[in-house]
Amino acid sequence: MPYESAFFDRIIDRRGTNCQKWDGMAERCGVSAEDGIAMWVADMDFRPPASVPAALQRMIDHGVFGYAAGDAGMREAVARWMEARHGWHIDPGHVFSTDGLVNAVALCLDIWSKPGDGVVVFSPVYHAFGRVVRASGRELVECPLAHDGDRYVMDFGRYDAQMTGRERILLLCSPHNPGGRVWSRAELESVAEFAHRHDLLIVSDEIHHDLVLPGSPRHTPTALLEGVEDRLVTLTAPTKTFNLAGAHIGQVTIADARLRAAFAERLASLGLSPGAIPPVIAEAAYSDEGAEWLSGLLRYLDANRALFDEAVAAIPGLASMPLEATYLAWVDFAGTGMAAAEFTARVEKEARIGVNRGTTFGTGGETFLRFNLATPRARVEEAAERLRAAFADLQ
Ligand SMILES: Cc1ncc(COP(=O)(O)O)c(C=O)c1O
Repeated sequence: MPYESAFFDRIIDRRGTNCQKWDGMAERCGVSAEDGIAMWVADMDFRPPASVPAALQRMIDHGVFGYAAGDAGMREAVARWMEARHGWHIDPGHVFSTDGLVNAVALCLDIWSKPGDGVVVFSPVYHAFGRVVRASGRELVECPLAHDGDRYVMDFGRYDAQMTGRERILLLCSPHNPGGRVWSRAELESVAEFAHRHDLLIVSDEIHHDLVLPGSPRHTPTALLEGVEDRLVTLTAPTKTFNLAGAHIGQVTIADARLRAAFAERLASLGLSPGAIPPVIAEAAYSDEGAEWLSGLLRYLDANRALFDEAVAAIPGLASMPLEATYLAWVDFAGTGMAAAEFTARVEKEARIGVNRGTTFGTGGETFLRFNLATPRARVEEAAERLRAAFADLQ
């Protein structure tokens, strides 16, 4: 078995490769890559399944990089993957390629809303949602997630009261980044009813759907719900699953003919069509080898999560949300009673760990930091040790 622990344990030095997570850490987090640990940007420090570099190598060996005759092979591979892993039957003809999913979100805003319209998110949520909503002149409408014990839940009574009639789109993150929740079918049904009540298009970003950790509930594609088809656009990608983020690959799946025509029209008017390289990468990842790699990855992440959670739980005042999906631990420092500037300084300056600050995820994130656990275990152990030392006075 090539994808056991030893594969993921291998330390690959990414410094000096124009890598945002390591080479950009000093500037963004104030943590030097010399002796810092990069736990911010959501990519992994692992190599992808060998089928990906092998497919690229075949292109290199052939040596001619001309126009491709479309992306049908990739769309068929996507359909096979969704059926096998998520029980979601899709028509390959309903899938569009985009330049990653932030690009797909921006296209959806552009097509189905206009400047000044409201775009609803359940906050705190993936920071780029707010970034593109604001950059496109739409209004970000934050519906704050509530807490049920130690996890996030939705509170539709409150959200109904917040709606003004100017909202057009609901940007859903499922599974949820940064809270790590796998939304249940019942929760998603409530989301669909909410969208129906307020006549919102649901843009369901399911980029983390393959990263459901062992022991967690199954992910339900929003597309499997009854009666959502005419208001649903689903975003998926192989990039988060297989660590291919730099390739900027996105897939937009639309079952409704009217919505699909609008999307196709906008791609045409912007002159957008898939390049030759991303579909080759995606097709190689959505494969038997990719599935085997993913099984090994999830086992590895599960052990990293256990190690990290144990260390965090031993520090009074810190609480890590139960991580059902994603490799992004969402740690609440509220119990320390410290101001954000202080706990952040302890993590960044004393422990020398580059993290994402909770405030960037919007309302509700103020007392949190997000830690990326998709790195070799030795680094997670070292980070746990440094956190213990940085908060030793609380123990
Ligand atoms: C919910 C969500 N959507 C999209 C992305 C990134 O999409 P892309 O790199 O394809 O633009 C991320 C990355 O962390 C994410 O968490």
